Parts: sequence; C-alpha cells; structure tokens
Amino acid sequence: MEDTVIKFENVTKIYKLYKNDKQRLLSVFSKRVPYKEKKATDNVSFEIKRGESVALFGKNGAGKSTILKMITGVAFPSGGEIMVNGRVSALLELTSGFDPEFTGRENIFLKGRLSGIPEAEIKELEGTIVDFAEIGEYIDQPVRTYSSGMKARLGFAINVNINPEILIVDEALSVGDTAFKDKCLGKVNEIIEKDNVTLLFVTHATATAKQFCKRGIVMKNGKLVLDSDIDAAIKKYKRIVK
Ligand SMILES: Nc1ncnc2c1ncn2[C@@H]1O[C@H](COP(=O)(O)OP(=O)(O)O)[C@@H](O)[C@H]1O
Ligand SMILES: [Mg+2]
Repeated sequence: MEDTVIKFENVTKIYKLYKNDKQRLLSVFSKRVPYKEKKATDNVSFEIKRGESVALFGKNGAGKSTILKMITGVAFPSGGEIMVNGRVSALLELTSGFDPEFTGRENIFLKGRLSGIPEAEIKELEGTIVDFAEIGEYIDQPVRTYSSGMKARLGFAINVNINPEILIVDEALSVGDTAFKDKCLGKVNEIIEKDNVTLLFVTHATATAKQFCKRGIVMKNGKLVLDSDIDAAIKKYKRIVK
C-alpha cells in the first residue's frame, strides 16, 4: 500500500447547475431552489504507484480537470474515497490560493504553508523561486498589482521549485511568453527525470504523452473507459475523438 501515491475508489463528482447566479446564491438559504445535476466524474477508480507516469485522455468535458482538482484538493468528491500520499505540485490553476493583498514574496510563504512545507524549507527555496519568476521588484508589491502573466510566472515558479513528489500537469496551462514556457518545460523535464517522482499528465497531444508516459487512462462522459498501457490508451482515445 505504501507504494500507492494516488488512489481513487468509486469517486463521483456531481456539480449542481443553477439557472443563474442569483439562483445559486438563493440555494445557500433554501433547499427549494431548482437545479440540474451534472456528473463530472462517475464512479471512477484507479491506483497510481510511486514513480509511475500516467497520461489522462478524453474529450473536452470528459472529467479530466475535475480529477486533477480533486487530487489537489481544489474540488471535493460527492461520493467515494480519494487517497493522496506525497507532496503535490499542480501545474494548473497556478494562481489559486494567492492572497491579492499580500506581496509576491508573502504569497510564496502562504502557498508553501498551504502545501504543508515547513517554514524553514520555504526560506531555503525563497531565493530560487524569486529568481525563477523573473518579476523583478514586483516581488515585494501586492499581487493585486500584477498582470495575469506575472501571476502565472510566480505560480509556476513556486510549483516547480518545491521539490514535488507528485507532479500534475494540465496541458491547458498558459504561462505567457514562449521564452518562459521553454524554461518551464525544461524544469518539468528535470523534475520527472528524478527517481520516484509520479507524473499525471493531461494532454491531447498523444505523441507527447507517449514520450513521457507508459500508462494511459481514458475518460468519456465522466466514466473511466480504459486504464492500460499507453499504446492501447492512445488507440482508444483516437477512436473516441473521431
Ligand atoms: N465548476 C463547475 N460547475 C459546473 N459544472 C462543471 C464545473 N466544472 C466542470 N463542470 C462540468 O463537468 C464536466 C467535466 O468537466 P472537466 O473536468 O473540466 O472536463 P475536461 O477537463 O475533461 O474537459 C463538464 O461537463 C463540465 O461542464
Ligand atoms: Mg480540462
């Protein structure tokens, strides 16, 4: 069991869809506000061992991001069990968890603590993160003064420099200009080359997936339809997107 770093057991995530924001707000006070239910994931089970690299395939809306969000704790399952064992670094929603009133530097400590990293270790990493972000003097300004590109840079700099045991990458990620993107890709490569780092990778680019992953999971309409070696998974995915 201790070799298992991520385990989903019959995980279902139901989103409640309201007619509009007003109805959504009203639902806080009343159970009678009507809504529709959307199963973003439907009874999904899988297990990932330490050091594995797994690609997650599926059309838009298949439930991939929802799975990643539940692993990182941004979203909670409506049913089933999730176990995550190890320091997670998620290259998605890079700026979630920032406090706009705090400076960039203060947010490094805030996000570090939220990720369960001891203060002394964050202090050691601080210089590396600040250098990586390349946002100059802005690091000591409140994050509310940042452009979206600067926020993404800082978010990325934190996430790739905290020595993650589990790396989660959503290809939909945007990090701004090409030069910074290349630097990020280099860093991701460096992380996954380390022994015992586990990678979960969402992509539509099957060639890239094959380059990094031996195993693939295919999602369709919230259901896990195949969990297999990468070649079979790509074959299945290609049939689905056709
Ligand atoms: N916050 C949300 N509120 C309501 N529905 C959502 C929310 N997030 C995702 N969904 C719905 O759940 C389904 C799965 O979405 P998602 O996990 O983002 O798919 P993917 O990443 O594979 O494109 C979609 O139908 C999507 O519209
Ligand atoms: Mg997505």
